[in-house]
Amino acid sequence: MSDSAAMASVFRSGLLDGQVALVTGGGTGIGFGIAELLAELGAHVVIASRKPAHLEAALAALTSRGHKASAVSLDVRDPERVTAVVREIATQYGRIDLLVNNAAGNFYAPSATLSPNAWRSVVEIDLFGTFYCSQAVYPIMAAQGGGRIVSTSMTLHYRGWPMMAHATAAKAGVDALTRTLSVEWAPQRIRVNAIAPGPIPTEGVRKAFMPPADSGIPDRFAAAEDRMAEYARTGIPLGRWGAPRDIANMVAFLASPAGDWITGAIFVVDGGEWLAKATT
Ligand code: HXC
Repeated sequence: MSDSAAMASVFRSGLLDGQVALVTGGGTGIGFGIAELLAELGAHVVIASRKPAHLEAALAALTSRGHKASAVSLDVRDPERVTAVVREIATQYGRIDLLVNNAAGNFYAPSATLSPNAWRSVVEIDLFGTFYCSQAVYPIMAAQGGGRIVSTSMTLHYRGWPMMAHATAAKAGVDALTRTLSVEWAPQRIRVNAIAPGPIPTEGVRKAFMPPADSGIPDRFAAAEDRMAEYARTGIPLGRWGAPRDIANMVAFLASPAGDWITGAIFVVDGGEWLAKATT
């Protein structure tokens, strides 16, 4: 059972019955956690990913539990493919109620030597991809009388985050896009919001906390766990790392009738981490 599945749902069963949701980057990590909760609440979830192996495993995990789910191969950087996939989903399932722009690319690299292609790759996945997918669902949501878009942002651009010029610039763009589209598409009753997740222990995070191979520490994995526990105690005011379900809960809330009067908002879900950093 995944971390997120271990946390029982606070939402009523059948809350999202009849809804169709598209989750980009839905095969792993936070995206899968979101897909999992939406499906548990009754939505038909279409997970999209560039990587077939991720799709197969995620789809098997969802369908084996009796959830309604399907998978589609998609690189959000390709606007024509995005449009085709979105049309296909609408034709097949009759509607799209929720788009979760979760697909993201990221790595630490010094800005001075970041290649044009490296810059472009991250900005295209995080920002252009969010725009292409949002634009593609617009006509479908407008024609059906409304819909919800939830994009994944971050908090690192609130202060500046060295070695991450590409991702911070892209996510600042996602914030701007969220606010602009929310106002522009409100007449069509399309609610557009974003979530800025705090630290969720992905593989990348675990690696970042691991002592270097030449450190002489015999059990580097155990050392990484100790360091992560220490970070939770000292760096996260609410005292623990996040889980995909923490983010998924906010998506489910926004997808539910409780989100009816919410648009243009960017929700920080981070245990207080960024504010604590801002005071140090
Ligand atoms: C410098 C790098 C690099 C690195 C890739 N590049 N990694 N440059 N340092 N560590 C450069 C490559 O050399 C290449 O430029 C260009 O980026 C594109 O690389 P490709 O591997 O060809 O691209 P692609 O296969 O499209 O992969 C996209 C990617 C990759 C973004 C580069 O990292 C990826 O697929 N990531 C998806 C998974 C991921 O990152 N998830 C994290 C999301 S979490 P040249 O010039 O050589 O052609 C998140 C929250 C952040 O976003 C919170 C962090 C604390």
